[in-house]
Amino acid sequence: MHKRSFIHAAVAAALVSASGLALAQDVFKIGLILPMTGQQASTGRQIQAAAKLWMAQNGDTVAGRKIQLIVRDDTSVPAVTRRLAQELVVNDHVNVLAGMGITPSALAVAPIATQSRTPLVVMAAATSIITEASPFVVRTSFTLPQVSVVLADWAPKHGIKSVVTLVSDYGPGLDAEKYFKERFLLDGGKVLDSLRVPLVNPDFAPFLQKVRDEKPNALFVFVPSGSGAALMKQFLERGMDKAGIRLIATGDVTDDDQLNQMGDGALGVVTSHHYSADHNSPANKKFVQAFEKANKGMRPNFMAVGGYDGMRVIYEALKKTGGKGGGEALLNAMKGQVFESPRGPVYIDAQTRDIVQNVYLRKVEKKNGQLYNVEFEVIRDVKDPGKARK
Ligand code: PHB
Repeated sequence: MHKRSFIHAAVAAALVSASGLALAQDVFKIGLILPMTGQQASTGRQIQAAAKLWMAQNGDTVAGRKIQLIVRDDTSVPAVTRRLAQELVVNDHVNVLAGMGITPSALAVAPIATQSRTPLVVMAAATSIITEASPFVVRTSFTLPQVSVVLADWAPKHGIKSVVTLVSDYGPGLDAEKYFKERFLLDGGKVLDSLRVPLVNPDFAPFLQKVRDEKPNALFVFVPSGSGAALMKQFLERGMDKAGIRLIATGDVTDDDQLNQMGDGALGVVTSHHYSADHNSPANKKFVQAFEKANKGMRPNFMAVGGYDGMRVIYEALKKTGGKGGGEALLNAMKGQVFESPRGPVYIDAQTRDIVQNVYLRKVEKKNGQLYNVEFEVIRDVKDPGKARK
């Protein structure tokens, strides 16, 4: 090749690869790890749908950066979550890790977030301790202590003097049991027994039989999103309600994803939670309508809202850092964000990186032939009690 044309070719090649590099740098990657299959699949389905809705409504370019959402299915096995997070950081160079369908998955990924200095936006998992597992965790879901204490305060004022607690035997269940129990005792209630059921394929029957024999005024329950319908079915089949035992629960049990299939037996069940699809605000009406339009036959639940708000926190942080944000700069821009969520007003506490939000008392009612969690009381700006005590 002639020397000059060789140089031309080399320069041209360098320019092409430089612009290719610039393009690669322009892409801002979000590694969204979710359980898309297995017992927690509804969580993955809900959060993915909400993240896509956020992008459809807000565009896929932020501060000059093209947003790429990389979705990976961890089947809610923490060792898989960890491997996927590692691959996303090392091979794909993601700017943010997000998702985390269950607590053990979030805890498995936290050390990777710390080591790689990658912000980890927890959109689902809800054990108090998660935000303390890495300084790079920011949470947009909720915590079990946050919602459990509100119900524990409500119950004794409404004729419930004795309870049995029944929770899934892992992080969020143990948090729900501990914080409900402590507050209920403080409020003068009696806890007759505390039962723990396995997380995977629980058979509630023997536990419910025990509760029937113990005859509390109410049964307090936490089971994770996706397991509520099975619990409700067995509760009704055993005639617990007819035996005079009320069901009270965190809103995970009367999950909007499943509530309509639970039947009229669910009517009147009181729960506490941070989100109901029935929440009466213009922002929520707009969200629910758009979500249902984009996802036929699906109603958004609290997981969807955690995912939607998580995307907002990422977008806002990228805007605030002028598109340059990565690592610590991006993390810092997530702290202290205040905004109107479909669930109501929220903020990300700059110290704890956890979400502060309203918690609502709700009752299952029928509206236009459909079952909803209808909010009847609000406790404003609730911080995670798991941190307040330290
Ligand atoms: C959790 O594993 O942290 C978790 C999962 C589902 C819920 C709540 C908490 O509904």
